[in-house]
Amino acid sequence: MLDGKKTLFSGMQATGNLTLGNYLGALKNWVTISDEYNCFYSVVDMHSITVRQDPATLRKRARILLTLYLAAGLDPEKNCIYYQSHVSAHGELAWILNCFTYMGELNRMTQFKDKSAKHADNINAGLFTYPVLMAADILLYQADVVPVGIDQMQHLEITRDIAGRFNSIYGDVFTIPEVYLGKVGAKIMSLQDPSKKMSKSDENPNGSIYLMDDKDTIMRKCKRAVTDSVGMIRYSDDQPGVKNLIEIYRACTGKSVDEVVKEFDGKGYGDFKTAVGEVVAAVLIPLQEEQARLMADKAYIDGIIKGNAEKAGYYANKTLRKVQKKIGFPERVRQ
Ligand code: TYM
Repeated sequence: MLDGKKTLFSGMQATGNLTLGNYLGALKNWVTISDEYNCFYSVVDMHSITVRQDPATLRKRARILLTLYLAAGLDPEKNCIYYQSHVSAHGELAWILNCFTYMGELNRMTQFKDKSAKHADNINAGLFTYPVLMAADILLYQADVVPVGIDQMQHLEITRDIAGRFNSIYGDVFTIPEVYLGKVGAKIMSLQDPSKKMSKSDENPNGSIYLMDDKDTIMRKCKRAVTDSVGMIRYSDDQPGVKNLIEIYRACTGKSVDEVVKEFDGKGYGDFKTAVGEVVAAVLIPLQEEQARLMADKAYIDGIIKGNAEKAGYYANKTLRKVQKKIGFPERVRQ
């Protein structure tokens, strides 16, 4: 607890093209709840290198992502927005937590299995211990809540297990974090295969709306979205494609399921898909414009990067020192 408010941590990878799923499942909620908490929002570039990255592209994408956080409405004076790689405590705590995490636990992680299958030529140890670095991110700031999409739930569970295990040996060192799932959009599905989540690594670009897609592309992808032959706009598991489009429409407009269903009562899929495209574009195009404006303001962004890394480092190191002391590392000598 800082300044009477609870603490929140979340992060996003600067890998690939961010999707509407990242925005509706995470970033949008971050903005909505940011006033209630002391927030740390990291661009988790250290996680990104578990898959091979081109250095220049990674650097560029990291900066785009950081400016997107701001463009979405996170105030950098109130929220600590920083690059994970600028706070060395993340790597240091991850090493320590590796020694409190079992191979069996990590072996059960579905994302590890998925990513290993996708990158069979590069199943590195970092990919395996990825959730431990994620635990370090969260526990360093003594986060009470972690807003994520449904796909990150398993990583949150292991974080809680690691923290609980550490606390049971050394006393109350870590806050046990709670997951925060948004009421809408916690799992946006692919437009081409509504049984799969919308993902930046999807081979079919028509399955995902990317945050940087222009309006024509957004409209085209929505119009091509896979639906069914039922012909009615209903929120039902039997109609996963339509259900996903309703979810997207709700998340972009703030309307309830009933309101959406009523609005499109008697209308065809064509009209509905066009309307979905319009509301998505109405959210994404201003976001893109603001991101581009911020990106051009180099001095302002550099100031945020520097100042917030120092702030994050201050809190992270407080926890790290406590942990180092608990486990018996020699005290630093002060002159
Ligand atoms: P990442 O970068 O894959 O995704 C960032 C956030 O977007 C959410 N998300 C989705 N939500 C709804 N529908 C979708 N189709 C969808 N796709 C992605 C994710 O759930 C996530 O909240 N390991 C994390 C990053 C991370 C992190 C952390 C998160 C590193 N350390 C500590 C929280 C706390 C990741 O790869 O997210």
